[in-house]
Amino acid sequence: MTYHIAVIRGDGIGPEIIDAALCVLNRVGTRFGHAFHYQFVEAGGCAIDRYGVPLPDESLAACKASDAVLLGAVGGPKWDTLPDDMRPEKALLGLRKELGLFANLRPATLLPELADASPLKDRVIGDGLDLLVVRELTGGIYFGDHGTGEDYAFDTETYHTYEVERIARCAFSLARERRGHLTSVDKANVLTSSKLWRRVVTEVAADFPDVRLDHLYVDNAAMQLATHPRQFDVILTSNLFGDILSDLAATITGSIGMLPSASLGEGTCGMYEPIHGSAPDIAGQNRANPLATILSAAMLLRSSLGLSEEAGAVERAVQAVLQKGYRTADLAAAGDAVLGTREMGEQVAALL
Ligand code: IPM
Ligand code: MG
Repeated sequence: MTYHIAVIRGDGIGPEIIDAALCVLNRVGTRFGHAFHYQFVEAGGCAIDRYGVPLPDESLAACKASDAVLLGAVGGPKWDTLPDDMRPEKALLGLRKELGLFANLRPATLLPELADASPLKDRVIGDGLDLLVVRELTGGIYFGDHGTGEDYAFDTETYHTYEVERIARCAFSLARERRGHLTSVDKANVLTSSKLWRRVVTEVAADFPDVRLDHLYVDNAAMQLATHPRQFDVILTSNLFGDILSDLAATITGSIGMLPSASLGEGTCGMYEPIHGSAPDIAGQNRANPLATILSAAMLLRSSLGLSEEAGAVERAVQAVLQKGYRTADLAAAGDAVLGTREMGEQVAALL
């Protein structure tokens, strides 16, 4: 069977981490007998340079026509002074919105091999961390009414019942398959939109009696993540809060270079990307950690192509490489074997 994957290399370290992930996907193809057809699509800063817009129509159409989208990273200082609607980040936001990818899943797992890489103390981490941030991705303040006047600027947070309900159902279903605990994070003591959020999540809970639901205010949630991270299983939150809390969750699990993400909608087509950015400071140096992108490719195999066995094989290969003591520079401690981006991809492929 041939699978069609739209591949957005993007900017900064994007091309390098994508190439490492494709090396692994190619190996999956040979080993399991699948053909992956890649269509390289331009979006982000490189598209601005070439076509004058961050998300050309042809790029969007190619993504819509694919089985899944794999994305490296977009953005960089070169494009930082452009007006908001022209920035590389608009490509990401446009893809999320146009593909209807309202559910962003960001699993944060601390592999035992990387326990030393976490900034938290051993007694806080215990024998590991395994949580999942479910971030609403196509609503809230990211897509609300915004504007500027002479001496003011504003952004608005709006949530509709249906938007909260569908992301809540998604999070409850995922919690049911994990440890059965969902923490919904909002700011219902201040924000009206959060009051709606909390009411709708509580209503949806009636359909999931086997899942334990808690509510936390976002400031408290940030503190709890840093002090008692093991209490969390699935964290459900809005677009903006999810952006912030997922970076925090990533950091406590060792390196932001390890965490993958999946953005899903109603159908099976999804977009998969590492949660980190384009790291322009190390671009082109073969130093970036490709594991988050490789793990994103594993999520792609599982969630968009239905290839669970293959996805599991990739995840186990990543763990095996770490067990062997191989590290990229971001994870390395004294005495570790430090690999470049390309070599890390090759090692994972070899161990598959
Ligand atoms: C993320 C990123 C994006 C976001 C930016 C680059 C638009 O930070 O995916 O977390 O804020 O959603
Ligand atoms: Mg972010």
